[in-house]
Amino acid sequence: MHRLQVLEKKRDGRELSDEEIRKFIQDYTVGLIPDYQAAALLMAIYLRGMTPAETLALTRAMLDSGERVVFEGLPYAPVDKHSTGGVGDKITLSLVPLVASFGVPVPMLSGRGLGHSGGTLDKLESIPGFRVQLTLEEYKRQVERLGAVIMGQTAELAPADRKLYALRDVTATVPSVPLITASILSKKAAGGARALVLDVKVGSGAFMQTLVEARRLARSLLEVGGELGLKVSGFITRMEEPLGRFVGHALEVREALDILHGRGPQDTTELTEMLGGEMLRLAGVAASFEEGRRKIQAAIADGRGLEKLRRIIEAQGGDARVVDEPQRLPAAVEHLELKSPAEGWIQAIDARRVGLALARLGAGRLKVEDCVDPRVGLEMRHKVGARVTPGEVLAVVHLGKWRDPSGVESLLRAAYRIGPAPPAVEPVVVERISP
Ligand code: URA
Repeated sequence: MHRLQVLEKKRDGRELSDEEIRKFIQDYTVGLIPDYQAAALLMAIYLRGMTPAETLALTRAMLDSGERVVFEGLPYAPVDKHSTGGVGDKITLSLVPLVASFGVPVPMLSGRGLGHSGGTLDKLESIPGFRVQLTLEEYKRQVERLGAVIMGQTAELAPADRKLYALRDVTATVPSVPLITASILSKKAAGGARALVLDVKVGSGAFMQTLVEARRLARSLLEVGGELGLKVSGFITRMEEPLGRFVGHALEVREALDILHGRGPQDTTELTEMLGGEMLRLAGVAASFEEGRRKIQAAIADGRGLEKLRRIIEAQGGDARVVDEPQRLPAAVEHLELKSPAEGWIQAIDARRVGLALARLGAGRLKVEDCVDPRVGLEMRHKVGARVTPGEVLAVVHLGKWRDPSGVESLLRAAYRIGPAPPAVEPVVVERISP
């Protein structure tokens, strides 16, 4: 079938065959189909959706667009984690070394931040010298030798996703369940993961703003992942207020270190323990999620996670002294206090608004080619549920040098809602997801 007929078929809401999907993706990856036709297909998929069979075919086609890593001779099957992204989400940095400290291989392919949400690679690059762009050979060797790596996708792995994701980003087609499913699973499977723990975010700061949508995405990931032979499970977690105490690259590395030192905030510590416990269960190191969680708690208490992080940083060329001397991380040159205008309880801190305001200050990207400033961020002195008085400091903005903060203060202020009664404070984990 000619590619124009493929576009017409999806535009009209009809189901595409495996072969039509495969051929389209193959031809697009090698440059036979122009971006404008691929963009039309993406928009048709966004508007019309895809059946589970189409989503699986799309995922397989994207997976087969490049190489597929197969790890051999490892003590356990490689386990990965994927978060659908949020503000203040630094969990990968604490989670990977903790899980790897049990001998479970964690080949982690991460991304950069865009729009309101941060990216793990940008956070890691605030560690002096840390290399996130390794070759595929270095990736394999580090997993086999050290049991863990955190790096960016390489050109060989799911190249169709690289091209399609860049296109989705500029055509308003990112928040689509079949497109997100195929994007995440093609990359993870290509990178050699055999099991995957999901952190599907829900709320104003997430792609999926309602529980119904988050469940739909979780179900799609579980079903397609299962068809690909991956073990998939995880959690739906809240993304209304930013996670933890800090937002911003160097500040989030600090918080991840705090978690590994056993003095992290309650929500980010809990998420680390829960996701880590589930990863250990899927790997077969723990018989149950509860046992896995206890093991992660033990690895925080005895410093095994910290030691593993030192080794990962060294292996990737970074200055591992930051683990014990976080003052070596880039730090703000100026600070701005954000004060409470009223007496009352903090009802909400809108994660999306916080992310967008910090991006304007240089912490994030408004365009893919933007550079980020690792020093910029927000230190939240109080979170939702806290009682505050007029003039009390709600948060401290950490400023870099090259962006004008005017206007950002009012944007950040607008992220806070203060009311006369204590709000209901909801737990960070909404529910578990499993096949
Ligand atoms: N993360 C991905 O890797 N892909 C998506 O489509 C969305 C989030």
